[in-house]
Amino acid sequence: MIGIMACDQHYVISNKGALPWNCPEEIAFYRGMIKNQIVIMGYKTYAQMPLSFLEEHTVVVFSKEHHNEIHRLAKIVSSLDALHQLNDLPADKQCFMIGGAEIAKLFLENKAIDHFYLSEIEGYHPGDVFFPIKLLSEYPRTLHLSGASFKVYCYRHLKG
Ligand SMILES: NC(=O)c1ccc[n+]([C@@H]2O[C@H](COP(=O)([O-])OP(=O)(O)OC[C@H]3O[C@@H](n4cnc5c(N)ncnc54)[C@H](OP(=O)(O)O)[C@@H]3O)[C@@H](O)[C@H]2O)c1
Repeated sequence: MIGIMACDQHYVISNKGALPWNCPEEIAFYRGMIKNQIVIMGYKTYAQMPLSFLEEHTVVVFSKEHHNEIHRLAKIVSSLDALHQLNDLPADKQCFMIGGAEIAKLFLENKAIDHFYLSEIEGYHPGDVFFPIKLLSEYPRTLHLSGASFKVYCYRHLKG
């Protein structure tokens, strides 16, 4: 399981339901990483996705309350156990946990992420949802990629 998300230098990930920055180069990195793969997200993140995103990826949505509002193209799970029990995910694809903050917290608290690509966008932006950065404090990080206005760090979980 790979985590992939973006934040600013104060760990803001969202403002009023949208990314508070415009960074096409980072979006291109993100899209390239998750292209045609399995993407796992919380309901609030799912609710902002266009239909084309569901058509282009294998989408799994974490939800307890909104099952009836989720498109038939997406798979719905109510817990990490239910995710692990899904037996119809394509075996040749990688699983990416793409957020938001609640689902990142769930996965990190349960040590369910092997490595996490966290893009840090330059600067400070207004925000109302924050990445739970403390949960990565024990993961050694390496610089994966350096762009004009962002850096991607890879945090690796130490096994054992
Ligand atoms: N910058 C980035 O990289 C990035 C990435 C993704 C999202 N975002 C932004 O983050 C915001 C959303 O983040 P968020 O933290 O508010 O919400 P979220 O993690 O996307 O979704 C939260 C929802 O997930 C479900 N959920 C949470 N814990 C669960 C559990 N243990 N079992 C089953 N379902 C569970 C619940 O859905 P129900 O209410 O249906 O039960 C909950 O309301 C959006 O504005 C989005 O744009 C940013």
